[in-house]
Amino acid sequence: MNYKTDFLIVGAGISGLTLAIKLAEKLPNENILIITKEEIRECNTYYAQGGMACVWNEEDSFEKHIQDTLTAGDGLCDEEIVRKMLTNVPERMKELINWGVNFTKNDDGSYDLGREGGHSERRVLHVNDLTGRYVEEALIKKVQTYRNIEIKENWCGINLYSRDLKCYGLYTLDQNSDIIYNISAKATILATGGAGKIYLYTTNPDVASGDGIAMAYRANAKIANMEFFQFHPTCLYHPYAKSLLITEAMRGEGAILKDIQGKKFMEKYHPMKELAPRDIVSRAIDAELKKSGDDYVLLDIASQRENHFIKEHFPGVYEKCLGFNIDITQQPIPVVPAAHYCCGGVVANIDGSTQVKNLYVIGESSCTGLHGANRLASNSLIEGLVCAHNCAQKIISEKDAMKILEFKPWEPGNAIPSTEAVVITQNWEEVRRIMQNYVGIVRTDRRLQRAKKRINLILDEIDRYYWDFKIEKDLIELRNLATVAKIIIVSAISRKESRGIHYNIDHLKTAKIARPTVIERPW
Ligand code: SIN
Repeated sequence: MNYKTDFLIVGAGISGLTLAIKLAEKLPNENILIITKEEIRECNTYYAQGGMACVWNEEDSFEKHIQDTLTAGDGLCDEEIVRKMLTNVPERMKELINWGVNFTKNDDGSYDLGREGGHSERRVLHVNDLTGRYVEEALIKKVQTYRNIEIKENWCGINLYSRDLKCYGLYTLDQNSDIIYNISAKATILATGGAGKIYLYTTNPDVASGDGIAMAYRANAKIANMEFFQFHPTCLYHPYAKSLLITEAMRGEGAILKDIQGKKFMEKYHPMKELAPRDIVSRAIDAELKKSGDDYVLLDIASQRENHFIKEHFPGVYEKCLGFNIDITQQPIPVVPAAHYCCGGVVANIDGSTQVKNLYVIGESSCTGLHGANRLASNSLIEGLVCAHNCAQKIISEKDAMKILEFKPWEPGNAIPSTEAVVITQNWEEVRRIMQNYVGIVRTDRRLQRAKKRINLILDEIDRYYWDFKIEKDLIELRNLATVAKIIIVSAISRKESRGIHYNIDHLKTAKIARPTVIERPW
C-alpha cells in the first residue's frame, strides 16, 4: 500500500527525534514521519547511562577533547571532522538544556562534570546515571508539540527502494496490521542506532539489530570500519540480567576492578588503571578471565565511596542491581565485558549525506570519522545531536530541488505463515554465538575464517528461505543481523594489524599508515 511523506525518519533515538524537531520547526508546511519498530522509547539512547562529553569549563579546552578523541581513535579518526563536531557540541547542549534536559548540578549550581575512561578532564554532562532516559523523554515531549510530525510505532523497515544510487523511500511492515507499505519520501533518513544484538552478550536493547546498516548496504551505500565493535568492560553478570550496563562513570568515581579473590589487577595493564581506554580495560578483564577460568570479575564501589554518594550518583544502577539482590553499597558487582557500540557504519558526511542520493544516515549507524578505531566514552549521543542538526540544515537548504517519487508496491512472493518459527530463533542464536566465540575481543585469523564459513551458510539459508516465510520482524532482523555480522567478519579479516578495538593475535603490530576498511556490495 502506498504512503507518502516529505521526510521519512527511521528510528526515534536522539538523532531521529532531534532531526524531526529541527525540520518541523523550520518547515511547518512539510510532513515528517518517524517510524520506530517498537515502542518509541525502546532505543539505545534511552539506556545510555554515562552522559554527553562536552567542553564546559575553563580548565578544559576543545584541544584537549579533540586530542583525547584522536588518541582513542588510534590513527583512524578524521581530524577535520573531529574538530568540526566537538567544537559544535556546547551550542547543541545549550539547545538540549532549553528543551528541558536538567543535567545534574553541584550544590553551587554549576554542572556536575563526570569523568570517564580516556578523558583527560572531567567533561561529561549527565543526569545521574539515567542520562539517556531523561534526554529521550525531553525530546519526545518536544516532538509531540509539532503538528507536522507523525509517529508510527511498531513499523519496521524491510528494504530501501533505490535505483542507480538514488533512494526513493522504504518498504515498511506495519506490525499492527501486517500491511507492507511502500513509503515514498523526498529524503529518507536512517537513525536506526546500533547492532549489539549481533553478539550473545550486549549492553544494547533487543532492537539494536543493525537494520540501518544492512538496509543501506543492500541499497549500495558504502560501509566502513565495521571491525571496530566496542566492548564495554562492565556489564552485570547475572543469570537473569539481560543487558544491564554498569556505567563507566562508576570507575570515574573510584570503583576498582578485582578478581573474585579480591585482588586488583588493572595496574598490570595500564598506568591509568581503571580509567584506561575501554578497549584496554575489556582486554584486561578478558585476559584475567581466561587465566583464572572464572566467569566474571568484580567492580567494587562499595569500599570506595559512602552509601549516600553511591545512591545519589548511581540511582539507576543501584535500583536495578537491588532487583537482582545485589546491594552495590555493600558488595562488589559481578561484571563481564559485553558488546556495546558499533564504531563503524554507513559512510556519511557530518550532515548525514551518503553516496546514495536522498539517503541520509545519522547517529550510531553512520561512520563519519569521529570515532576511528575506538570511540571515546560519551562521544556518541553528542555525535547524534550534532549530525541531526547539520542534517536538518542540509535538507532545508536543498528541499526545493527534492521531489517525492513513487515506487512500486511490495511484491509478496510466496509469503505464507511459517509453522517453523523455531528456525528463525535458532539462526538468531547461532549468529550471536558465532560472533561471540569467533569475532570477540581477541581475534585470530583461524577464528575469523571459521566465523565466515558459518555465517555464509546461514546467509545462504536466509536467502533461499526468506520468501517462503511470512515477513515478520524477527525474520527481517535475522537477515539484517546476519548481513551485518558478515560485514564485520569480512572487515576484520581484511585488517592485517591490531588497531584500536580490533585485536588480532596473528597480527599484533599496528601498521604505520592507518587506513579505513570500506565494504561495498557484494562484500
Ligand atoms: C557508560 O555509561 O559507561 C557508557 C558511556 C558510553 O558508552 O559512552
